[in-house]
Amino acid sequence: MNRMTVRWETGFAWGPRTPPRCHAKNAKRQHHFYITKHSFLVSSYSKSGFPELRLSFPFATKTLASAQIPRLLSAPMDIEAEIRALQLDSTEDNNGVVNPEDAKPEVEMTDKVEEEGMKDELDTKSQPVQAEPKVKDKEVSAPEDVEALDEMEIDKKRHLNVVFIGHVDAGKSTTGGQILFLSGQVDDRTIQKYEKEAKDKSRESWYMAYIMDTNEEERIKGKTVEVGRAHFETETTRFTILDAPGHKSYVPNMISGAAQADIGVLVISARKGEFETGYERGGQTREHVQLAKTLGVAKLLVVVNKMDDHTVNWSKERYDEIESKMTPFLRSSGYNVKKDVQFLPISGLVGTNMKTRVDKSTCPWWNGPCLFEALDSVEVPLRDPKGPFRMPIIDKFKDMGTVVMGKVESGSVREGDSLLVMPNKAQVKVLAVYCDENKVRCAGPGENLRVRLSGIEEEDILSGFVLSSVVKSIAAVTEFTAQLQILELLENAIFTAGYKAVLHIHSVVEECEIVELLQQIDPKTKKPMKKKVLFVKNGAVVVCRIQVNNLICIEKFSDFPQLGRFTLRTEGKTVAVGKVTDLSSSSSA
Ligand code: GTP
Ligand code: MG
Repeated sequence: MNRMTVRWETGFAWGPRTPPRCHAKNAKRQHHFYITKHSFLVSSYSKSGFPELRLSFPFATKTLASAQIPRLLSAPMDIEAEIRALQLDSTEDNNGVVNPEDAKPEVEMTDKVEEEGMKDELDTKSQPVQAEPKVKDKEVSAPEDVEALDEMEIDKKRHLNVVFIGHVDAGKSTTGGQILFLSGQVDDRTIQKYEKEAKDKSRESWYMAYIMDTNEEERIKGKTVEVGRAHFETETTRFTILDAPGHKSYVPNMISGAAQADIGVLVISARKGEFETGYERGGQTREHVQLAKTLGVAKLLVVVNKMDDHTVNWSKERYDEIESKMTPFLRSSGYNVKKDVQFLPISGLVGTNMKTRVDKSTCPWWNGPCLFEALDSVEVPLRDPKGPFRMPIIDKFKDMGTVVMGKVESGSVREGDSLLVMPNKAQVKVLAVYCDENKVRCAGPGENLRVRLSGIEEEDILSGFVLSSVVKSIAAVTEFTAQLQILELLENAIFTAGYKAVLHIHSVVEECEIVELLQQIDPKTKKPMKKKVLFVKNGAVVVCRIQVNNLICIEKFSDFPQLGRFTLRTEGKTVAVGKVTDLSSSSSA
């Protein structure tokens, strides 16, 4: 049977970088059409904008483009049936519309199981197109033509991961959602739909946050739980937004988001009483800043949000008050306020001072940049693409091999590379590399990747493992020396040998025990104190030895800052931040 072969792809977030040639909609879903060097692509989205499937029609012939595209486009209301007909109706081929000889052999859609799988995907509902679904989407192999397309699309823009942090309800998701709306990735119809959904849930003002908060639980409670992820770009930069939860119960999720970020947007609510609650002891404004610094978030944009609120009304006094209270705190948390921190007023909900500068009639006193300008001009230190490869694994799943996810902290990776999964020293081969949603041949430091591997089973990998170069592999230890700063211990707790806590270092979460306090550091002189130290109190800086039960892969802070800084948490509270100063060779694996 002459059957045109097509490749179905599911769960595919087709980015905004490629302007589609044409759109078509029907009641159930919308389709975008693209023409690449080797193929004709149809990306389909559910009504709510969730990317559901992508069809790739390879053509060496002009026939598909010339004969079938007009037919597809002329029948937009029945487009879905038309697309399916292309795949299922063999008479097309007999008509000579598509010459199968000309089409490169691709995956043929005869497999029932695959069809079933696709149906499942089609059933997925209520996900916006921009924020990636928080339920792990199934990654799929991108065809060669997509790769060719990606090569055309992936330009030389720099890439930055930006985490949105701050106290609960400060407006992180709202601001993230507004950024996506202003950068043209969410249409008015989706916003109207969210407005209605938010109203139905008696959460009228939350509709912008719904762009980032995609889980039902998050929408009902109006609180982010899992780190939301989305992409947008400005003139100079491709950004990955990581929208962290502000609620204290979800600090571990915030840590995992911040650990992937290069810069942070610290969102502060200027609304009467809200700044105060976030900033006071136990508020997440403080905790997030300290964690962000420890986790390697080099620069902060502090956005003073809700300036439109009636208790604020773009008041310069309120803005100045917040800036003057935050500045000494940011300094004491280790940020160089002149070089690494920039304040600006916004309204995330209304979208003011975000893509364009605030109008003088709204805010006569602000002469600084808007948020997009500030993001565009943030400078971060260049990372070395030639360093030894290190990618801490944050997640893994099975899909035509084993796929691991994480951010490259050092070095580069390309298809065909041989690497190690540490600490179990498993030799693996890189089958494919995906950057955001695109298949790429090679990726460097700072990129968030999905890497498909052969040579290892998914169940043999845990998050916290590190994909590492073979020649200069990462150390695996059960004990190390670190310099710690004690922030705030639980009431009546004493920090001494035997103290137990949970260690968070890159994507590792492990129980640990302080085995020995070595020296206390004088905070004024930064030199070790002579007196033997047996216990320390809040605020102390101490060098100690820390033990974990399982092998973990970490680095000295001086070698790889991102893999050598950590936090200690007890009973849901961050009690200390620290850096690894020595990896004991006696305990090295
Ligand atoms: P968590 O995810 O729970 O930490 O909260 P969040 O920081 O993501 O806050 P979210 O975006 O969910 O917004 C919380 C509430 O603040 C919602 O009711 C928003 O409408 C409101 N809000 C956010 N930004 C603004 C703003 O610029 N102006 C006004 N007036 N309200 C805002
Ligand atoms: Mg949120």
